Amino acid sequence: MKRRKFIQNAALGSVGVTLGPTAMACNETSKKEFSALKDIEDSKATLPVVIATWNVHKATEKAWKELENGASALDAIIAGCGVEEADAKGQTVGIGGLPDREGRVTLDACVMNEKGEYGAVVCMENIMHPIAVAKKVMEETPHVMLAGKGAEDFAVSQGFKRVNLLTDASKKAWEEWKLTSEYQPIINIENHDTIGMLAIDKNGTISGGCTTSGLAYKMAGRVGDSAIIGSGLFVDNEVGAATATGLGEEVLKTVGSFLIVELMRQGKSPQEACEEAIKRIIKNTPNFEDFQVGYIAVNKKGETGAYAIHQGFWTTTYQNGKNENVQPGFYNKKG
Ligand code: GLY
Repeated sequence: MKRRKFIQNAALGSVGVTLGPTAMACNETSKKEFSALKDIEDSKATLPVVIATWNVHKATEKAWKELENGASALDAIIAGCGVEEADAKGQTVGIGGLPDREGRVTLDACVMNEKGEYGAVVCMENIMHPIAVAKKVMEETPHVMLAGKGAEDFAVSQGFKRVNLLTDASKKAWEEWKLTSEYQPIINIENHDTIGMLAIDKNGTISGGCTTSGLAYKMAGRVGDSAIIGSGLFVDNEVGAATATGLGEEVLKTVGSFLIVELMRQGKSPQEACEEAIKRIIKNTPNFEDFQVGYIAVNKKGETGAYAIHQGFWTTTYQNGKNENVQPGFYNKKG
């Protein structure tokens, strides 16, 4: 029996589908695989689960309801993140996002599914739902990433409408910023930054998505971590998934989400893996007090973890019928 197949079966066991004696007696099944099965069955975590960065209970609720209605984990994520992208009051994703230095709102987003398929858009203007466009890139093109005008034109060709993403409030904030034009990352920007969301459906299928307007007042053309696979998001259906928020440059340099998934593969819990990934940034970056990074992760059992450099990061988890905001642990106790 192939390892992938076995672990999929193990996940089914964790959600109430009984494995028959044939599967348990499979001659080719190694002791290690039996222990993986036991591990999953022993876990107190339940499926399905939806976890997202920041206080986004409406988004996780939407995703959870989609899962309840039979949507795939990926479609649940796209619907959930779409709630935030459509909220003009939110200044970190979708419509209302803070612009670059030239006043342009440019969006990055990506998705990854249980098959390891990936789609992304970067630096895309005038389209409210980049995460849905990212899925179209994954499904409808031979590529994994489209940028700028090409991404926008592709979105329109797929039926997305062009809209002005720069709201009056974000325009005003940009005009005020221009008076000094001082550039520095904002820690915990309005307690709502990049939205990363991970979901596991009741069958144990994992997907993830990440969407952002990026760093406020960034240089024109700047792309952060959120749409870059392995950095802003990574999913491995045998192991788990991770996603990031905060200063993308630091996540990119440490390929944070891939690192977390690989640490979980080696046996760390989602919490331990998130903490290790934050420490990797701290180790390489003496000015860590000047910026925020936060990670969330989930493993195949539905166990979750989260950690940040600074206080003020929040997560929202919908699991076991409860939709809860949690403030995770953080590294910088002096701040
Ligand atoms: N994490 C979002 C960005 O840096 O663009």
